[in-house]
Amino acid sequence: MGVPEGFRWGVATAAYQIEGAVGEDGRGPSTWDVFSHTPGRVRDGHTGDVACDHYHRWPEDVALMAGLGVDAYRFSIAWPRVQPSGGGPVNRAGLDFYDRLVDGLLDAGIMPAATLYHWDLPQPLEEAGGWMVRDTAHRFAEFAYLAAERLADRVGMWITLNEPAVVMAYGYALGVFAPGRTLMLDALPTAHHQLLAHGLATTALRARGAREVGLTNHYSPVWAQDAASPDDARAASAFDTLMNRLFTDPVLHGAYPDVTGLGVPDMSAFVRPADLTVIASPVDFLGVNYYQPTRVRAPSEGGALPFDLVDITEYPRTGMGWPIVPDGLASMLRTLRDQYGEALPPLYITENGAAFPDAPGPDGTVDDTPRIAFLDAHIAAMRAAIGEGADVRGYFAWSLLDNFEWAEGYHPRFGLVHVDFATQARTPKRSYAWFRDLIADDRRRGTG
Ligand code: FCB
Repeated sequence: MGVPEGFRWGVATAAYQIEGAVGEDGRGPSTWDVFSHTPGRVRDGHTGDVACDHYHRWPEDVALMAGLGVDAYRFSIAWPRVQPSGGGPVNRAGLDFYDRLVDGLLDAGIMPAATLYHWDLPQPLEEAGGWMVRDTAHRFAEFAYLAAERLADRVGMWITLNEPAVVMAYGYALGVFAPGRTLMLDALPTAHHQLLAHGLATTALRARGAREVGLTNHYSPVWAQDAASPDDARAASAFDTLMNRLFTDPVLHGAYPDVTGLGVPDMSAFVRPADLTVIASPVDFLGVNYYQPTRVRAPSEGGALPFDLVDITEYPRTGMGWPIVPDGLASMLRTLRDQYGEALPPLYITENGAAFPDAPGPDGTVDDTPRIAFLDAHIAAMRAAIGEGADVRGYFAWSLLDNFEWAEGYHPRFGLVHVDFATQARTPKRSYAWFRDLIADDRRRGTG
């Protein structure tokens, strides 16, 4: 099964995971700088201070993308480079970096796809309450406006937020990601304020001439441990509501899913009726990040959440320990169609990929056969879903480079290109050549 005409093949990265240069050209601190420098937060004390040094080596990285033949590159714009304190006038030097990158991409024939928030909140905004407070949404819209003012004439796709569900759950509820707060279900306002930020930013971006605007969510099919158990089914529905539907229903249907009985705070305390209209501003696409399904069972007695997570052990796993279930991608695409029907905009797979413990062999090459198998199976699942009518317009592999994988530091390697973090040497892995050939094949057949 081919992909539709004009399909965009791409690779994805995020600012804090690759750029480094955290103190250069007026960049301010982000929540991730503070978090990674706090002992015990990130494995082995790794930080994004240098990362892949992409801030200086971007021409080499654009050349690597050109060698792959990708149509598009999804990167993120670091808010603390553009507005070091999270508000106020633009730091021109910060935006200059993205200006150069965007021009470099266009010269290489690659469409820039910019994400505005991939988790690096300016630290001063966190100190004022972060995503727990409404004001952050308004600050974000200003940042979006400034970024578009400079770049909208050349950026082809704008993604407001990356995975607001993960920010809520890992950042504010469980505290395993920045900013490390452990509010559990009281983190719910961070969902609303991020979605409000998305809606306000969508309007701001369009006002400055942005063409395609959307947001990227993390999606996971949810499995009840015992399909015959009503309690497990209830737990699965609770997880699905809080992690999938909470971030999609308001955008596409203009209403939150019913959260009564889940133990979350009363939403009327922070949701104003007119907010839903803002959040439901039309989007041109929805970004889907897919890595793995989730299995849950009924919560244990006295549990803080309306579900307990259960390991999925019957599938092979990646280096992250994540089960490899390609059909989960196809089933998620089906579910989105069933749930949202006509309201569902075109989809992009904005992230999909896997970490494996890749190392260069004696001849210097990196043979990452498991990654090739992973990508091949997931792309096949996507093609099958397209064959059944899913409107998927592009696929971005996570990631171009091995990079700073959040709380796991530099241990997991997700790249099509190996990075030696001691020397910054880049070595394309076997999967790089494989992906290059896949793109070229699709193009030859006139479908890509
Ligand atoms: C996603 C993140 C991305 C990357 C992958 C592995 O949740 O959006 O930055 O870390 O996971």
